[in-house]
Amino acid sequence: MKDVLIARFRAVHSREPEVIARAPGRIEFIGNHTDYNGGTVLGAAIDRGVWVGLARRTDGRRRFASDSRAELVELAADASARATGTSSWVNYPLGMLLVMQAAGIETPAGFDFLAVSDVPPGAGLSSSAALELSSGLAFLAAQRQSLPREQLVKLGRKAENEFVGVPCGILDQGVSGFGRKDCLVHIDCRGPTFGIVPMPPGLDFWVFNTHTKHALVDGLYAERHKECMEAALGIGVGLLVEATPEALAAAETRLSRAAYKRARHVIDEIARVERATEALRAGDMALVGKLLLASHRSSRTWFENSSAELDLLVDVLEAEKGVYGARLTGGGFGGAVMALTSSQFDGDGAKRVEEAYWAKFGSKPDVIRAHTDDGASLVKEAP
Ligand code: GLA
Repeated sequence: MKDVLIARFRAVHSREPEVIARAPGRIEFIGNHTDYNGGTVLGAAIDRGVWVGLARRTDGRRRFASDSRAELVELAADASARATGTSSWVNYPLGMLLVMQAAGIETPAGFDFLAVSDVPPGAGLSSSAALELSSGLAFLAAQRQSLPREQLVKLGRKAENEFVGVPCGILDQGVSGFGRKDCLVHIDCRGPTFGIVPMPPGLDFWVFNTHTKHALVDGLYAERHKECMEAALGIGVGLLVEATPEALAAAETRLSRAAYKRARHVIDEIARVERATEALRAGDMALVGKLLLASHRSSRTWFENSSAELDLLVDVLEAEKGVYGARLTGGGFGGAVMALTSSQFDGDGAKRVEEAYWAKFGSKPDVIRAHTDDGASLVKEAP
């Protein structure tokens, strides 16, 4: 991808990038919608990412280009309005730039910018967090600066919450920032604190991207966020992480049905994350797999963010040899399913899953075999 980035940078901007940064996409391993509830979550940075090249300009102009859109987006040095339509992807780097400036961090006034990516968009693999972190690293490197990793990750979330307008938690940016090859990232979102859980050897990740997306996906995410906060209030805690199953049961009649169901999922899911972490450390893959499947069923039943397409994939995968477990990954309401497998599950297994999907929905999911990878890093420093 580095060569692709450099060649395209030359073609679009007629010069060389001064700095290059890369940030990986991520798989949400377990912990669905636990992050903004203060809970814990496990994720893996993957070997697909966003690469950003940047070269400063002295005229204050900011010229953004990407490999997925033909047009160049040019913004004035003082532009701070959210972009709409086909240029809305610019909101991720622009949001990052603005939150960095608001935090008193020196950023380049003018620049030529290019992002290239091999993270499929809309697959729940968090290409947006990867774009935020790679942009942030590139802006810093252009000024020969650096930041503690935790601060970079928090700024990414802030850009998404305050500029892009999605009330997401710290999962995506945290995993993209703290990923490590052959490991999962464990985040306690209350701190937040970031840890590493080694993966037992011989495991594979498969992602099945349905290319389906609920028309109201952003609104539904915000609605779930609201229902969780409402449930916490009704139970009498600040965030759902502080609630016990007993406290939820005691508050059931005071809560709306929706608030009760969301809380039921979140409280159980946080417990599952902890059990999965212990099972991984003990190498008990059968238990890990069961927890992954239980997580999916809970998302489907209580959080109501699954879909017929995601459910079919999980059911078909569950019956395949070598599959420990499978579940929807990311926000839900469409998107992708991830499966954790042994090497017994291979291309033939993936084909059977595709065929079962085709028989029911008349289309094929994208199949991606993913490996764990390191978190965001600088690939080329300023001269
Ligand atoms: C999206 C958000 C994350 C997290 C997941 C659901 O990926 O960006 O912060 O809430 O959904 O677990």
